Amino acid sequence: MPIGYGKVILLGEHSVVYGRPALGAAIGVGCRVEASPAHRDHMAVELAGARSKAAISVGFGGPPPEPLAFELTLERPASHPEHEKMRLGLRALLESYGQRPNALRIDLRMEVPGGAGLGCSAACGVAIVRALDEVYGIKRDAAAVAQASMPWERIFHGNPSGMDSAIAASGAVAIFRKGRPLQLISAGGPLELVIGHSGVVSSTITTVTAVADLHAKYPSQTEALFDEIAGLVDSAAAAVRSGELGALGRLMSRNHQLLSSLKVSTPGLDEMCAAAITAGALGAKLTGKGGGGCMIALAPDHPTAERIAAQLQQLNRETMIVGGASTP
Ligand code: MEV
Repeated sequence: MPIGYGKVILLGEHSVVYGRPALGAAIGVGCRVEASPAHRDHMAVELAGARSKAAISVGFGGPPPEPLAFELTLERPASHPEHEKMRLGLRALLESYGQRPNALRIDLRMEVPGGAGLGCSAACGVAIVRALDEVYGIKRDAAAVAQASMPWERIFHGNPSGMDSAIAASGAVAIFRKGRPLQLISAGGPLELVIGHSGVVSSTITTVTAVADLHAKYPSQTEALFDEIAGLVDSAAAAVRSGELGALGRLMSRNHQLLSSLKVSTPGLDEMCAAAITAGALGAKLTGKGGGGCMIALAPDHPTAERIAAQLQQLNRETMIVGGASTP
């Protein structure tokens, strides 16, 4: 089943919008899509393992799943704003295929929550493009798939850097820089990461706009912060290659401080990062857009990852342990 991977940004979110590099890693879950001929265009969406109407639980494990599902038709606007974005995104993607021989049913299974900073929308866009390519017999590499999915991503995020889509398509650990080919990194050892959800759904457009406002008000200070983050990203890439997890963790924690200076952290995310460090994390930071969503903690080994997850659960946060990278 065609897949787009969810992602974590190890370092470099927000500054990546301003042309700096960022280091991201695909996670083993994302969004899977199947497209098949039908009598009308529509999309059936299933949230894997969602336990309640709060789609936040998607992918975060827990008691036996009771999947939530909904269906969209292209012709009729959806009443839920997020569903309407999906409808418009799908329409934008289908339009890019030009003349289409069939009406389609798109079955989309989301394994990560939206609004969490885990690249859910990009993963869906990439998976839909892969599924449509199968139907129409189109073959293209991961970079071209990511590019083709951008009309979908723009509906969700306005002016995205393209990082989430590139990582979603590559399924790798990689350095992304706007306008340059994705630079894959082969990790010198496993990256054991704990993802913790703050419980707050946030919007990329909101936090990216808040950083843009800060940048407009204090251009030189903000540029200096972006430059410092770019330096951390370069050092972190070297640390990933050589498997120096301690160094990587310190760089991640410093990145979190700088993201706090950009005002995209929240007391909830700060509390979770501090709790993770207390439980033995080598470093911790918010991941993705911030303003809510998720944080990540780097663990030295699996037992420590479990301890960190338990500590975060004590704060009533949902957690996921991931290997940090998944090769398609
Ligand atoms: C969102 O996952 C990452 C941001 O840097 C926005 C972007 O790169 O488009 C906050």
